[in-house]
Amino acid sequence: MTALQPQTVPVPVLDVDLEFLDIVTEWDVDTTFHHWRPGIVVPPTFRPAISPRVIALANQKGGVGKTITALELAMAYAARGLRVRLIDADPQKAALSAWLKETCYPADAKDRRTLRDVFFGEATLRETTYPTVYQGLYLVPSDPSLGDVENATPQQVFSPESLLRDALRADTEDWDITIIDSGPNLGKLTVAALVASDDVAIAVQDGGLEVVGTGSVVTTIKTVRKRMNPSLQVRAVFFTDFKKDSLHRRIGREMNKAFPDALIVPCRESTQAGWASLGKRPLRMHTPNEKPTLDYDRAADLLVAPKQKVS
Ligand SMILES: Nc1ncnc2c1ncn2[C@@H]1O[C@H](COP(=O)(O)OP(=O)(O)O)[C@@H](O)[C@H]1O
Ligand SMILES: [Mg+2]
Repeated sequence: MTALQPQTVPVPVLDVDLEFLDIVTEWDVDTTFHHWRPGIVVPPTFRPAISPRVIALANQKGGVGKTITALELAMAYAARGLRVRLIDADPQKAALSAWLKETCYPADAKDRRTLRDVFFGEATLRETTYPTVYQGLYLVPSDPSLGDVENATPQQVFSPESLLRDALRADTEDWDITIIDSGPNLGKLTVAALVASDDVAIAVQDGGLEVVGTGSVVTTIKTVRKRMNPSLQVRAVFFTDFKKDSLHRRIGREMNKAFPDALIVPCRESTQAGWASLGKRPLRMHTPNEKPTLDYDRAADLLVAPKQKVS
């Protein structure tokens, strides 16, 4: 199968037509809409974290761009020569593992262990980490049986909330970036992802405001911070399928108010995003130089700087 040939991950080629987003400290909602240009909001105090770093994607809602953001960020770091592990903590059939299914070794998914085996104590995280055809990108797959974690007894899965964190700590291999994609709920798997992470990145679309308020992912993040992971931070909000219109401008501004210390990243709309997912390839491999790829690349550089290797 030709899909299983190793492939290097390209950094997009700069092209004058693919205008970069400006870097701004907040979105201006007062200038007339016609003159307004969206930009990536970088708060004045914001500094890139130094790798290694564990980043969870979260939002209690589905269809808001968590999975595409997890994958494209991971590809951006792989393109920069970093060693990246993607952990699929979403049991849904259409999750990240389905997207990468045909690009992972061993070729037959039946021969792979999954994150479920880690939770049930049947495998280590290292044993469930598989290389993909994309140089530098590794996947810990899931399948629908991962959902068993939500209803498991303590005899089956002991302390699921801290299990992923402990599994990451137990792995002595060097990873520059670990990205955990979570499902559209706030159950044990999402909490486990938040407990295991240094940073949270929230993905939103034009319903944006659902992430703040009672019962939202922000409430869960606050509880996780208080009880289990005091250094957890919301470091970025990815506004996916972003269109330049007044609704998106307004919601971006509200996100900036709700998360004043986080990057606000508009990931510009591209019909190719849907095609890439149907074609089961990351966007930058499906269509080179799409606008969202540039947006993810810039955000990746702002979020994490690679640790300088001592030569
Ligand atoms: N930049 C973009 N332009 C157009 N569509 C996008 C963009 N980013 C995401 N989408 C679309 O949003 C939908 C949801 O994305 P997905 O990552 O699967 O969300 P989630 O993981 O939160 O359920 C997909 O159909 C995807 O193609
Ligand atoms: Mg998803």
